[in-house]
Amino acid sequence: LAAGGVLAGGAAVVATRAGQTGPPSVDAAGTTPVASVGGLVEPFYGVRQAGIATEPQAHGSFVALTLRAGTDRAALGRWLRLLTDDAARLTQGRPALADTEAELGLLPARLTVTFGFGPGLYRAGGVDDRRPASVADLPSFRIDRLQPAWSGGDLLLQICADDAISVAHAQRVLIKDSRPFATVRWVQQGFRRSPGVEPGGHTQRNLFGQLDGTANPQPGVAMDTAVFVADGPAWLRDSTTLVLRRISMNLETWDLLGRTDRELAVGRRLATGAPLTGTAEHDEPDFAATGPDGLTVIPDFSHMTRAHVTDDRYKILRRPYNYDGAPTAEGHADSGLIFASYQADITRQFLPIQRRLADRDLLNEWTTPIGSAVFAVPPGCQPGGWIGEQVLG
Ligand code: HEM
Repeated sequence: LAAGGVLAGGAAVVATRAGQTGPPSVDAAGTTPVASVGGLVEPFYGVRQAGIATEPQAHGSFVALTLRAGTDRAALGRWLRLLTDDAARLTQGRPALADTEAELGLLPARLTVTFGFGPGLYRAGGVDDRRPASVADLPSFRIDRLQPAWSGGDLLLQICADDAISVAHAQRVLIKDSRPFATVRWVQQGFRRSPGVEPGGHTQRNLFGQLDGTANPQPGVAMDTAVFVADGPAWLRDSTTLVLRRISMNLETWDLLGRTDRELAVGRRLATGAPLTGTAEHDEPDFAATGPDGLTVIPDFSHMTRAHVTDDRYKILRRPYNYDGAPTAEGHADSGLIFASYQADITRQFLPIQRRLADRDLLNEWTTPIGSAVFAVPPGCQPGGWIGEQVLG
């Protein structure tokens, strides 16, 4: 089972187990006991928030809230203390205070709740001087077809777990406790491969059938350097930033494309994820290699070539979820990616990549950004503390 969790400090650990009753599950042959994923717990407290370096869970819900008029610094503090308490309990397999469906709080299935602060929260709290400079509206790109229904937000809750019921229950509790302070702006729900479907360590596939996540910075120093701010004042150190883009993927026109053209668009093989110049997924791509026609084997405008970054300090951590809405009456899909990109600094890391892709990327033919939001993700907290205390306390 892929039950590995990653501690906020970067050390890989196996997620621990919440109190559980009942017999262990067995494998398909009915013999080998298989640990059930329901009781697995990711740590909540730590110098960094969970849900970022955490091995991505199967289900994700992204909830963006808009502050009500009058939600000032003191109210923000009250609200975030409440939500921190909910998250600290539910992620550890304990029902929230006054939980109306207490039984649903008992199996967290690696539940994490990650808090993001939009630019509007800093303004409302009168703490704009503590907003990380790169957390501001993104410039518009010519590929954008952004819809307000999927864009912006003052507070983001990224709720992830290996079970959809655990996500739904946490979402319900957190939204109920938010009602006096904010309204729901949008909710985006997505999924990845479920635990146990493949042996651990496999890269998930998106709905184009591509292995998605191969070139992500690896847990440890590479990920730490790219994702978390190493120093600075308490409100900045161990924080990160999140760019969330809803990107629709046109499965109808993608279907018309042959396998070779699909592989050229990204620069990797569909079956293995190997670069077109290699044989295994993690082979180093050779962007200079040319074929008999004198052209580069990996097209200069392939998604991988345009997105590629060599210096670990400038990489981004992609933690996307697939979405698959109801098809139209004609049977046309409503599918795509909830593209979640974590990086220490949006201006230095995300924007140069996005600019190159917006300028030229073969994949643009089949993908369209339809939503966009940016958030600062403040540091974590210790027992007795609350998420946001360094910013608003
Ligand atoms: C790599 C798909 C949007 C940044 C890849 C790969 C695939 C892929 C299949 C190759 C395997 C891998 O390394 O994961 C997609 C799809 C997208 C999308 C389907 C939209 C629906 C974006 C966006 C960005 C981005 C918006 C950033 C602005 C990257 C980066 C890499 C990558 C940095 C790694 C490149 C390397 O160094 O090899 N993407 N991507 N992608 N993508 Fe995307």
